[in-house]
Amino acid sequence: MKALIAAGGRATRLRPITWTINKHLIPMTNRPMLAHAIDKIVEAGITDIIVSVNPGETDSMRAALGDGSAWGARLTYLEQRGGALGVAHVVANAEDLLRGEKFLFYLGDNIILGSLKKFVDRFLDEELDCMLAFSRVKDPQRFGVPEFAEDGKTLLRVIEKPAHPPSDFAVTGIYLYNDRYFDGFFSIKPSSRGEYEISDVNSWFVENGKVGYEEITGWWKDTGTPDALLEGNALMMDDMPREQFRVDVDVPDSAQVQGLVKIGKGTVIGEKVLIRGPVVIGEHCQIDNAYIGPHTSIGDGASVKNAEVEHSIIFPGASIDTKRRIVSSLIGKNAIVHDAVQTLPRSGSRLVIGDSSSVEL
Ligand code: G1P
Repeated sequence: MKALIAAGGRATRLRPITWTINKHLIPMTNRPMLAHAIDKIVEAGITDIIVSVNPGETDSMRAALGDGSAWGARLTYLEQRGGALGVAHVVANAEDLLRGEKFLFYLGDNIILGSLKKFVDRFLDEELDCMLAFSRVKDPQRFGVPEFAEDGKTLLRVIEKPAHPPSDFAVTGIYLYNDRYFDGFFSIKPSSRGEYEISDVNSWFVENGKVGYEEITGWWKDTGTPDALLEGNALMMDDMPREQFRVDVDVPDSAQVQGLVKIGKGTVIGEKVLIRGPVVIGEHCQIDNAYIGPHTSIGDGASVKNAEVEHSIIFPGASIDTKRRIVSSLIGKNAIVHDAVQTLPRSGSRLVIGDSSSVEL
């Protein structure tokens, strides 16, 4: 089997972060979001993986994820041609690589905490044409939603973002297909928003093929907002295998490290530090006279001094030195958050902030 990961898009609601980084590379527990998707795909036994990227982004994606050898897998990067024509079109764009194959289609901003192995095995064992994963949600109108017959089990169709959802399930962005997909795709038309909807392909399969579905738990979908990213980061930290929480540096007696904490090589932990896990700190960071609270990840080379940080994603190279408590924040690469002790007038706040930044002082 092969896998295709959708990793394109512009993620405008995550600016300014996404001015310089593809959303799917945003660090979650200090690893690119997509690395977690690849973990799950490889764990399910699939190692031939195509990554669909925006035009011109092959090099930056390859620089972040490599050729797949870190997973014992092979990653092939494929640039999206013809513009953003919808989720279903991402698969059509990879037709040459997927003809004659069974494949897992994975929307890269979907995060799952459990294993995909059972899901893949059932698809293969029962020789299904299409297999869908449903998850119960509070806001089904944001998703593809399955409609069932009166028995509550027989699938009738899938409706994309219905104003009046026929069930409280979302169709998650993790799909299994065989290459009848292309018959389905070439028989659908773009929706009123001008996109080829994956839900229309799924409805085609319900009418023309053998479709299975499973309800999954432990699914998280990034809505593209900073709050959602922080929630995803926290969920993934809670889901990290315990053995990955290792402290690879000396911690002075005066510092306290509590709970599950990972600290990378070359990081210097100074005096008067309290780290309360789960927390992930990268390599070559400096932490001094600081409190690092639960669900915080700190990227390589960042520094946190004289500060309190909690429930935040600090990108590599950022520098925080402030009496203000930093909570639920995203601090971008090499960004500086310092107290204005040397600035006149003393009551002023001096800001150099990129386009579409958001600051709550
Ligand atoms: C897409 C699909 C939708 C699915 C969702 C899952 O929506 O169109 O059917 O439920 O992914 O992540 P989008 O997130 O592109 O709006």
